[in-house]
Amino acid sequence: MCGIVGYVGRDNGQRSSALETVAPAFDQESSEAQHGALDVVMEGLRRLEYRGYDSAGVAVITPDGIESRKKAGKLTNLVAELVADPLPRSLTGIGHTRWATHGGPTDQNAHPHLADDGRLALIHNGIIENYAELKAELTGEGLTFISDTDTEVAAGLVGLLYRGLVESGVEGDHLTLALQQACQRLEGAFTLLAIHQDQPGVVAAGRRNSPLVVGLGDGENFLGSDVSGFIDFTRRAVELGQDQIVTITPDDVTITDFFGAPAGGREFHVSWDAAAAEKGGFDSFMEKEIHDQPDAVGQTLLGRSDVDGNLILDELRIDETILRSVDKIVVLACGTSAYAGQVAKYAIEHWCRIPTEVELSHEFRYRDPIVNEKTLVVAISQSGETMDTLMAVRYAREQGAKVVAICNTNGSTIPRESDAVLYTHAGPEIAVASTKAFLAQITAAYLLGLYLAQLRGNKYRDEIADVLADLSTIPAKIQAVLDDADKIKQLGADMANAKSVLFLGRHVGFPVAMEGALKLKELAYIHAEGFAAGELKHGPIALIEEGQPVVVVMPSPSARDSLHAKVVSNVQEIRARGAVTIVIAEAGDTTVEAYSEHVFYVPETPTLLAPLLTTVPLQIFALALASAKGYDVDQPRNLAKSVTVE
Ligand code: G6P
Repeated sequence: MCGIVGYVGRDNGQRSSALETVAPAFDQESSEAQHGALDVVMEGLRRLEYRGYDSAGVAVITPDGIESRKKAGKLTNLVAELVADPLPRSLTGIGHTRWATHGGPTDQNAHPHLADDGRLALIHNGIIENYAELKAELTGEGLTFISDTDTEVAAGLVGLLYRGLVESGVEGDHLTLALQQACQRLEGAFTLLAIHQDQPGVVAAGRRNSPLVVGLGDGENFLGSDVSGFIDFTRRAVELGQDQIVTITPDDVTITDFFGAPAGGREFHVSWDAAAAEKGGFDSFMEKEIHDQPDAVGQTLLGRSDVDGNLILDELRIDETILRSVDKIVVLACGTSAYAGQVAKYAIEHWCRIPTEVELSHEFRYRDPIVNEKTLVVAISQSGETMDTLMAVRYAREQGAKVVAICNTNGSTIPRESDAVLYTHAGPEIAVASTKAFLAQITAAYLLGLYLAQLRGNKYRDEIADVLADLSTIPAKIQAVLDDADKIKQLGADMANAKSVLFLGRHVGFPVAMEGALKLKELAYIHAEGFAAGELKHGPIALIEEGQPVVVVMPSPSARDSLHAKVVSNVQEIRARGAVTIVIAEAGDTTVEAYSEHVFYVPETPTLLAPLLTTVPLQIFALALASAKGYDVDQPRNLAKSVTVE
């Protein structure tokens, strides 16, 4: 939620033309002097725009002081503003792309916010919970505020503290000192970045419960909400701890706590490929990411066994005897990640015989859950920054539970605060609606289930090897679904005027149905709901009227307990009441054709692995329908990819 970038460099000419990718027109019209901090910051914002796109702004230090431009709307509006009103050369800059919390998405409320009579600029991601109290106090000191934001209050506070330090003759780096003092007073969640015109070549930042990583360069350094903020410029990054202040200059990175005591960060290598964060010839990031899925699953499966054939986790800080004594698993996640957890529950319980609950992170800690040393919490998060999930993780650990994170983003907070980590190797996911991360999460959760089954002796090694062999065939099967997607794409486009679409599934098909409905809500802004097919007769069937489209995720005819026959009956019940049925079935299941208006086949696969295939046509359907309506599928209205507020 909100993307943040900071940059300081030494060499004026070294950065050029990155803005061509943002807006070629801007680059043509800009003078040589505009390359530098602004170019780096704009490129970072372009890559971070998925975090929020209500407004965007930049500030740079110029020989004449701080200069800032900000604009409501998407980043292209800011680019147009910069074309109309260019900024002079600079080597120190900050930039922000916003997802509004306090105050609507207006030019005025956009970041940066200025303080200290325009000498200081500050940007913020998070929510400052005591901002009203601080605002009253600062107003009493004579400060005035022109926006509705909590950020401007933070800027005012840092500015006032800065002035105080200067006037009282304190020596040293006033910006860092002022930020330290301010962070001591702020409550809530925040990443703050500040620059001051009297300290060119310095960007100071503070973080609590909100993401920030450092990028290390040669004669230049970077700050970003995540590594995509500087992925074009360096692969060396440092993750920061909680409640830390970091100051970057062209040659130094200094980390302290809020009280100035030296602190450290962990350096890591960024393995993401910058090209992987581009559209690669597709019309949207979402379409590209749907097509990345064979690779996302394949990469997540890679290198998971040691020389003895045992499964391994990426980082394990839990004693194996503790894992053997686990008597309950609680999966915590939000949105699409929670549906991945719901799919995984079927496999984990089946393989490990451990009772498994799946709970939305934001509901979890408020209901006095039963969690103790024998509980294993599995936190699933693509971004690793979702505040609801982070808070739930902290709560679970306080109760003595061990936490395994399943995460796609190296250097993020949730893995760092967990006891073990299993990374999904889906690569950067830019489109706000999650696709490839979902399949990679299911894959990783299955690996975790198999790992536990192996450790606890629930499964023989050859049984585990059989499942792994089945999993290894999945990438090619996903590719087959993608290669055969024209019909479902066409259907999505043809249904652009649908007012409501229902989704039915049973067993692992139930969370798939809910994920299919979520994709449609997120992208096409129409009513969509996923139901358990068996629940239909207990209420939802009342929604069926002539012409109502219903997507059915059909279990394999070889699934246990005649699930197939039961769902076929459900299809007949709704058709009898006028529903138009769109069925996702297993290849060869021709029996369903008699009961469906439209059938789409996916390759045969064991029941537990079927979600890795049946989800794909639903993603394509939602993408096609939303595209036909002319909507921006990468940046749907009101949403943000990384939700770093509760
Ligand atoms: C937001 C996004 C969803 C995502 C959810 C959880 O709501 O819009 O696409 O599924 O957050 O995100 P996480 O990064 O924790 O997986």
